[in-house]
Amino acid sequence: MKPVELKPGIFWVGAVDWAIRDFHGYMTPKGSTYNNYLVLDDEPTLLDGVKAEFADVSLTRIKALIEPGKIKHLIVNHIEPDHGGGLPAILALMPGVPLYCTEKGRKGLQKFHDVSRWDFHIVKTGDTLKIGKRTLLFVETPMIHWPDSMMTYIKEDRVLISQDGFGQHLASTQRFDDEFIECASEALLTEYMWDYYANILMPFGTVIKAKLDEFGKLGVDPVMIAPDHGVIWRNPQKAIGMYRDMIEGKCHERVVIIYDSMWGNTGKLAQAITEGITDEGMDCRVIKLRQCPASEAVKEFWMARGSLLGTPTLNNKIFHYVAQFLAYLEGLKPKNRIASAFGSYGWGGGAVRDAVQKFRDMKLEIFEEGFEANYRPDAGEEQGAYDFGRRFAQAAREYHKRFA
Ligand code: FEO
Repeated sequence: MKPVELKPGIFWVGAVDWAIRDFHGYMTPKGSTYNNYLVLDDEPTLLDGVKAEFADVSLTRIKALIEPGKIKHLIVNHIEPDHGGGLPAILALMPGVPLYCTEKGRKGLQKFHDVSRWDFHIVKTGDTLKIGKRTLLFVETPMIHWPDSMMTYIKEDRVLISQDGFGQHLASTQRFDDEFIECASEALLTEYMWDYYANILMPFGTVIKAKLDEFGKLGVDPVMIAPDHGVIWRNPQKAIGMYRDMIEGKCHERVVIIYDSMWGNTGKLAQAITEGITDEGMDCRVIKLRQCPASEAVKEFWMARGSLLGTPTLNNKIFHYVAQFLAYLEGLKPKNRIASAFGSYGWGGGAVRDAVQKFRDMKLEIFEEGFEANYRPDAGEEQGAYDFGRRFAQAAREYHKRFA
């Protein structure tokens, strides 16, 4: 359990969680990490905690460098339990250490823990803490990811400790982006950045853009970004570029079909539509919701310019597996995507109409009013679905040009 040195005197002392697959409902097929960092300066400083069950792992790494009781400052950039959960165990070995966080961080921590002996020091954007040769600059980043969140910039080393920002739910033996790319692939790392952003940060694109702009004004110009999940960016411009792309609405020229089916009839429509999209020369991915976590479907939605939602009508409503997905998607406030719906109905219908209306309420670009077939699609309806797919692919291609 060795620490990993980021730069002389700055160490990763976190934990790799190979086993986690369900992160508060967000499926994490590649696990995750809980990163925290120790800076050895005249006044040794620990930045962030870890999840409760990994506190011992982090403390073992810390002890390889220093007796925890000699740590002079504890910075808490984010209080969510995957970082704050381990704080009581860590603080037990450094009693009385000053704890620096935002006011909302203090208020939140006292709801999760007995903080009666914790020595809070509230910081705001622009505040600094001199720990020897180094200066820590604090930047509040509310809603990236919770209201309490902040980031800490180690000025002299130009290292940004970014908590959830620029993170990925990705367990690996490699700690740095370039190492990971060499051992795995750039495409996988990019996909997991998009996955994390889609499921955690999608609603906050405007806030993130404002913060990236504020960084410039505060002199935050990192040569390394060290998030609290996943790999550390030795090429921070790559991570910042990915965020800027997502904020500006960039994504793949691709259509994703996200559907579920009761008796295979909506599935039959999905197949015909896929053929139409493919024959139009458009990249297409297909997700059947009961075979795929909603968080995976959200990632695919976010990576594609166009989305078609397939739903049967059940009791005059959207099929509940599809409705669940829509409820999750709605909260993430997607933007800059074109969408429509399709599905089979028995007698009353209505699910396709309601799904299109949901997309309209989300202020997405709407394509036609969807496509429906009664019971099992006949040859004519299959042809209609195929044509619908072709027209949708054309529309998605045109819409995509707005973001070129
Ligand atoms: Fe990694 Fe918002 O916690």
